[in-house]
Amino acid sequence: MTRAKPVEVFDDSLRVLAERMIEIMVETKGVGLAGPQAGVNLRIFVASIDGTKENARVYINPAIKVEGAVVTNEEGCLSLPGIAGKIKRYAKCTITAQDLNGNEFTETGEGLQARIYQHEYDHLEGRMIKDRLGTAAKIRAKRRLKQLEEEYEQTHNENS
Ligand code: NI
Repeated sequence: MTRAKPVEVFDDSLRVLAERMIEIMVETKGVGLAGPQAGVNLRIFVASIDGTKENARVYINPAIKVEGAVVTNEEGCLSLPGIAGKIKRYAKCTITAQDLNGNEFTETGEGLQARIYQHEYDHLEGRMIKDRLGTAAKIRAKRRLKQLEEEYEQTHNENS
């Protein structure tokens, strides 16, 4: 898995990308979506703790600092439908990122918010939840991934 590249140009196309990412996140009832999931290998993600457009925020070139206890909780990912597992995350996470104008801001989140930051940041580092699952869950996930691949190939062949 590759690391996403830093965003260097803050222009209208970045704005359009962010808007599209928020749309996808809201439509798919997610609470976060990272650039690589939208086919763009850039260090950008969108997040909304309640999945609403109103509370969606854009995080560009983020850096995170984790602290507090390690909490295990069920976590899924829009890129891996049907795969959810118990994932360990830090209870508290401070994020420093740039907004669409390139201005830096810092936020500290706890609980679900902290989990979203860590999950989306992982995407930018080329890590997915399947890389963080325990062994038994990994085997189950592998089976499910194989299924997804076959389903995809089948639909692809039907449509081509
Ligand atoms: Ni994800």
